[in-house]
Amino acid sequence: MSFLRIQNLYKIFDPVIAVNRLNLEIREREFFTLLGSSGCGKTTTLRMVGGLEKPDGGEIYLGDRCLVSGEQKIFVKPEKRDMGMVFQSYALWPHMTVFENVSYPLKLRGTNRSDIRTKVADVLGLVGLAGLEDRPAPALSGGQQQRVALARALVFSPKVLLLDEPLSNLDAQLREEMRRELKALQRRVNVTVIFVTHDQIEALSLSDRIAIMKFGVLEQVGTPEEVYYKPATPFVRDFLGKTFLLTGKVIGVSDEHVQVEVHGVGASSLTLQRNNVISSANGFPTVGQSAMVAIRPEKMTLSEKICEGQGNVVEGTLQATQFLGDRYEYTVTLGSETRVIVSPEAKLLKQGGKVFLELKPEGVTLWPRES
Ligand SMILES: Nc1ncnc2c1ncn2[C@@H]1O[C@H](COP(=O)(O)OP(=O)(O)OP(=O)(O)O)[C@@H](O)[C@H]1O
Ligand SMILES: [Mg+2]
Repeated sequence: MSFLRIQNLYKIFDPVIAVNRLNLEIREREFFTLLGSSGCGKTTTLRMVGGLEKPDGGEIYLGDRCLVSGEQKIFVKPEKRDMGMVFQSYALWPHMTVFENVSYPLKLRGTNRSDIRTKVADVLGLVGLAGLEDRPAPALSGGQQQRVALARALVFSPKVLLLDEPLSNLDAQLREEMRRELKALQRRVNVTVIFVTHDQIEALSLSDRIAIMKFGVLEQVGTPEEVYYKPATPFVRDFLGKTFLLTGKVIGVSDEHVQVEVHGVGASSLTLQRNNVISSANGFPTVGQSAMVAIRPEKMTLSEKICEGQGNVVEGTLQATQFLGDRYEYTVTLGSETRVIVSPEAKLLKQGGKVFLELKPEGVTLWPRES
């Protein structure tokens, strides 16, 4: 049974449908991420889970306990939901010390003084701020404030930790460091995390599973690898990473393979596996149908000539080569698109010259033609 269940969740800020009939099942101790571009309803969803916003429809359950349901006239207050929250702005109280900030949720819950001391010290140790109890909140760096906000959210050992873009105020280096720490912290505390971000890298690197939203609607839920390599929609595919898109036509279909005619990329046709096919709408793939082949650039092998025994090979033009110390970046045009292909080795390729790109099957998806 799922740990946190969101059913038909609906919220309208007239005229915008911020969250549109959202269904999600989150597992215990999962690091679950809501990902999508600005305005797609991530924060609104998180606030409804935390009880800071009332839905216009739908239900949320934690285990078998209903937290909110319009129909059943249930609304559990935020402090009774057993959830800690961290916001993008941290929302620390500036006139309070670290101790006062972190102990606040315990006071709210009537914890006795000596327990408060112990728990605050423990949680500050956990986030790497041991001994900073008496520091005024404004006298902390951005990263330290972030840790205080985390400590305050975790101090009462909540079942669920709700994080709304908690890393977005940090500079790039600190952000990466905190990303690792956050993941390690979750493992230590064993808490279920719902994390909101519009940053693909953050989502892919931290999450057990990711839900991708667009205009309040759920597009796909899956592990980072699933959503990256088997995107369910063009939006998910393009939001999560770069692709070369080739247009073509289905010219052969068997139980295991689909053959696609492509133009302007050297090879006259590609033989793809059936599990590269994304959609089966309208009987796709059927011979004669228009198709798109999407290729992740990092799943291509670059060479100067075609070698025997290679699978699908297409032909592009090398625009530029850059040496970046630990890797080379090759800017390649394939069909009408130009992308960067990264390789650890120098391949001595001539700029402006022809290059051959072998497609690894796991980096290719086949789609019906987008209108
Ligand atoms: N209190 C509000 N009043 C009116 N409209 C709102 C309110 N809160 C959110 N909205 C609208 O609802 C939609 C979803 O907003 P939400 O804040 O949930 O998006 P988000 O995915 O968190 O975006 P971001 O990445 O920019 O934080 C947006 O169109 C937003 O303008
Ligand atoms: Mg938001």
